[in-house]
Amino acid sequence: MKLVHGMLVYGMLPAVYGSTTHATLPRASQPLPMKSDQDLYKQLRDLPKEQLWTQEVARFDAASPRERMEGVALIRAVGMIFSRFGTDEEKEAVRAWLITLLKDPQEKIRRYALAALPKIGAGAEAEMEMLSLLKEGAQEREKKHLGRALEKVGGVATLAVIEESGGALPGITELKVKAAVSRRENPGAVKMEALLPLEDGMRIFLRCRKGLEGFVLEEAEEVLSSDVFDIERMEPGCVTLRPKKPFSLAMLYKLRCFATVGFSLGTVDAGPSAQSDIQKSRWVESLARCIGSTCARSIMLEGTEGAARYRLEFAGLGHQRGMVRQVIDRAYELSPEILNDSRQSLWSVDVIPVAGGGSGGGSAAYRKSMASVELRPRLYPDPRLAYRQDDIAAASHPPLAACMVRLAEVGKGASPEGREVQEVIWDPFCGSGLELIESALRGGVDTAYGTDLDDKAIEVARANFAAARLEQTNGIFTVCDFRDARREAEIAAGSISLMISNPPLGRRVRIPDMKGLFADFYTAAARALRIGGRLVFVNPLRTGPEDPSLKLEFQKTVDLGGFNCRLEMYRKVVPHEKAKQSLTRHQKGPLASNTQGKPREKGQPDPAWWSRVGKSVKGGRGKPRPE
Ligand SMILES: C[S@@+](CC[C@H](N)C(=O)[O-])C[C@H]1O[C@@H](n2cnc3c(N)ncnc32)[C@H](O)[C@@H]1O
Repeated sequence: MKLVHGMLVYGMLPAVYGSTTHATLPRASQPLPMKSDQDLYKQLRDLPKEQLWTQEVARFDAASPRERMEGVALIRAVGMIFSRFGTDEEKEAVRAWLITLLKDPQEKIRRYALAALPKIGAGAEAEMEMLSLLKEGAQEREKKHLGRALEKVGGVATLAVIEESGGALPGITELKVKAAVSRRENPGAVKMEALLPLEDGMRIFLRCRKGLEGFVLEEAEEVLSSDVFDIERMEPGCVTLRPKKPFSLAMLYKLRCFATVGFSLGTVDAGPSAQSDIQKSRWVESLARCIGSTCARSIMLEGTEGAARYRLEFAGLGHQRGMVRQVIDRAYELSPEILNDSRQSLWSVDVIPVAGGGSGGGSAAYRKSMASVELRPRLYPDPRLAYRQDDIAAASHPPLAACMVRLAEVGKGASPEGREVQEVIWDPFCGSGLELIESALRGGVDTAYGTDLDDKAIEVARANFAAARLEQTNGIFTVCDFRDARREAEIAAGSISLMISNPPLGRRVRIPDMKGLFADFYTAAARALRIGGRLVFVNPLRTGPEDPSLKLEFQKTVDLGGFNCRLEMYRKVVPHEKAKQSLTRHQKGPLASNTQGKPREKGQPDPAWWSRVGKSVKGGRGKPRPE
């Protein structure tokens, strides 16, 4: 059988599959080599769906058993094409056809139908048909495929059969079906206020973009109760806490500068796929033990309303597909109350390499090849961002916005004595408004101006600002180029106490003249800021302002998800005035320790003043000190 002029031709055996939709018959003396179901599938999926259904399916149905076996790839092609491009009516017809194929005397044909049905949306009838196949005494191989299909489509009826039959299907099928049933019946929620029990050796990792850990540390010191948490260490991208008493997620989510929170479950080898079978099975066992540990179980059971469902995620370690099933199967044996579920799960078990040291403990050489296993609540939307009504494509990373607000010391940073002031702030590239809203949430902001070229972004910023219920702050949003803000938004010279912004970085949206844009940006800042006012922003360039009234006070390299930028703060001073004598917290950073008052030059080592104190924080909650 082959495709000739876009049509499956039966009865030309031995089959020749080498032709394309426009192929001519091969010369009898030179039969093309027999090709696989895969090749036929590739040819079939290129046919128009109408032809696939009206011609190929009709031919397949009328063909002899042998020809049907040779053309079995049609089932896969029909399943794929109609699941993606079929109308509801077409899907219904395909589903009915696939269900009839479950009764085919040939196991291979049933197997292909089993694989195609979940994609098209199987429904109760298909589930019943699969269960009858199971009850009729399917062989081991078919049972395995039935298990895989029922994992995706099975419901209460499948669970009942599993219970009755006691082991007719593998444990993993039971696990997946239980998870799907509980998801459908009650998707559940993470309980923010629940007190999570203290477990031996428990550690909490507050993870953030590298370069922001100093802000996370400082905020943790300020906000968390020292009766409940010790701050144990800080390293690039992570601050580690040791809980001393039961605590809630709500306590941790008072912090705005971290990105995710994870509970340490242990460590495993970071490179399992390159290992021997024995090492692989040890890896499976150790990861399963982390998932089935008392710590994971008690956090998930106490912290979840509804069934505790988790997904497994490998950060930078590939999918580890081959071994994932073994891991979740074994974890289910160890801890059957915890269900693996890749869809809408409330928790994630993350496997994160800790190259060159990190949260896993042990010597540096040992840690190099290790991965930290962490349990993370999956909170979507993030409860800290409840104000977010909508988003824009180039929106800021919200914890970065929160860190910028800390750097700016919103509410008191504009006064030389650090006393409270009523800020007037401006984000010239406000997008969806995160920096302005995060600033106003700190309090002490009288007026927040947002300008952006994009009218959709301004609409989103207005909606977000309104949802944040910032009654003390007057939000004024204007669609305009920041260069026209004086005229369009009526931002007077010397009126702004803080300019805070995540400008275009020239990556997602290409800007033809980045240098020109930033030169104009500094000019606008020098004009709009009042004396003592600050400019806090993310700088993708290595250039600074030429205007002598803008003095650099802080600079820190931050990883913005694969590329580095500098988080910077300038202060508006009277030109020729010396930089303030009393160094602020931030001045103690790059300028005091590394650069003696000059911005860092290309090639100079990153001052990394906060991360250099990451090994341990002496005295638990003591202030980080430059070395
Ligand atoms: C990185 S995004 C800002 C993201 C924003 N902080 C947020 O949280 O959504 C940069 C924004 O600058 C705006 N923009 C680019 N050039 C501009 C210009 N010349 N004047 C004003 N806005 C501009 C873009 O429309 C975009 O919304």
